[in-house]
Amino acid sequence: MDIFRKKTVESVDETAGKLRRTLSALDLTALGVGAIIGTGIFVLTGVAAAVHAGPGLMISFVIAALTCVLSAICYSEFASSVPVSGSAYAYSYVAFGEIIAWILGWDLILEYGVAAAAVASGWSSYFNGLLDGFGLHLPAALSGAYDASKGSVINLPAVIIIYVITYLLNRGIKETARFNGVMVIVKLIVVLLFIGVGAFYVKPSNWSPFLPFGFGGVVNGAATVFFAYIGFDAVATAAEEVKRPQRDLPIGIISSLAICTVLYITVSLVLTGIVPYTSLNVGDPVAFALRFVDQNLLAGLISIGAIAGMTTVLLVMLFGMTRLLFAISRDGLLTKKLSKVSGKSQTPTQSTWVTGTLIALLTGFVPLNKLANLTSIGTLFAFAVVSVGIIALRRNDAGKVKQGFRVPWVPFLPLLSAAACVYLMMNLQAITWIGFVIWMLIGLIIYIAYGKKHSALNNVSNIDKLS
Ligand code: ALA
Repeated sequence: MDIFRKKTVESVDETAGKLRRTLSALDLTALGVGAIIGTGIFVLTGVAAAVHAGPGLMISFVIAALTCVLSAICYSEFASSVPVSGSAYAYSYVAFGEIIAWILGWDLILEYGVAAAAVASGWSSYFNGLLDGFGLHLPAALSGAYDASKGSVINLPAVIIIYVITYLLNRGIKETARFNGVMVIVKLIVVLLFIGVGAFYVKPSNWSPFLPFGFGGVVNGAATVFFAYIGFDAVATAAEEVKRPQRDLPIGIISSLAICTVLYITVSLVLTGIVPYTSLNVGDPVAFALRFVDQNLLAGLISIGAIAGMTTVLLVMLFGMTRLLFAISRDGLLTKKLSKVSGKSQTPTQSTWVTGTLIALLTGFVPLNKLANLTSIGTLFAFAVVSVGIIALRRNDAGKVKQGFRVPWVPFLPLLSAAACVYLMMNLQAITWIGFVIWMLIGLIIYIAYGKKHSALNNVSNIDKLS
């Protein structure tokens, strides 16, 4: 059937090549850390400890990390054998065929778009907090998404930061990577400072009882803090801008995840050691813990680090979405305009402005607290499909994949990875599932009405067809 037509690894190689190849393994690791450390650790840890996991929060982080590590291993093989823009979307085109690729592409638009919009509103809260500290206050109408009860109309700081980042992305990938590198260093210093200073204030009695909500609470906590790990997969979207993709992409994906896992587990131990978990249900738990022990100056620094951290998350999420739209459009499943590359900066300018504007509208006007979990369900779905995709890739293209990173213990490891993702998905709320299904149905309608007719594969003979 047409909807299951596939690309071959060779045909994918041929379409790549318009973007500038400048990124190294170190740049990719920095992009990964840039995308990962943000709202999750600076904001969500509080509610996860207070409401779900208690001091057992560190086990939640371990469970979420194991799920991500398994998926990261699967992503690495795909990234190294199909090194083109589009990440899981492009992999599914090779492994499963067009309709599944489209579903994944549509799913990733949800992941990056909603994540960026949610992080921008977190960024804005921290920024307003910082302004308050200097005695400056934005009018209520400009300081939050539409909410009649608070008198807010538009979240202006969130809209502005999205457009600043869109502008930066249009300057070029190397410039973006350089800015990202500086901000990543700032946030790493801040996290290490928290661990280094906070460790002296840990009272082991705060860790008891360790599992006040039982193991079920720990798993719910894992589904919540999973958000904190999202982003390492966005590294794979840079494939066409990497100097040596087959070697550097797996290094970038796995090392950024490893660095963040160690930091997260340590931060959660220190955090729940300083403050009794029952007091942690606050919007800025990391800074709160330092204020709790009268380290007010350091708490201020943490706020600046959180803003830097969220800025890089935004940067990489927006970057990921631009490259995704670029890849989908190049394949004809969305309008061709989105895959135009500007001569000067060699970046896909139109898809970048469209991405920025969509996310600015979302973060500017829509209250996002109910939407953020959509990011997690979308990402877990993508991880599960990519994991199973390894088995399909080996069946279809095993002979053609000559070099690069290989997942060990196939099919056991990919199946375990998919099962872990589905398990965490089951721990998300019904409302999140409903939103997810509606989004996917909208995607299917767009594919039937537009993508199927305009697909570039309509004109190509170089495809494998499943009967
Ligand atoms: N992992 C990213 C964050 O924590 C999405 O903000």
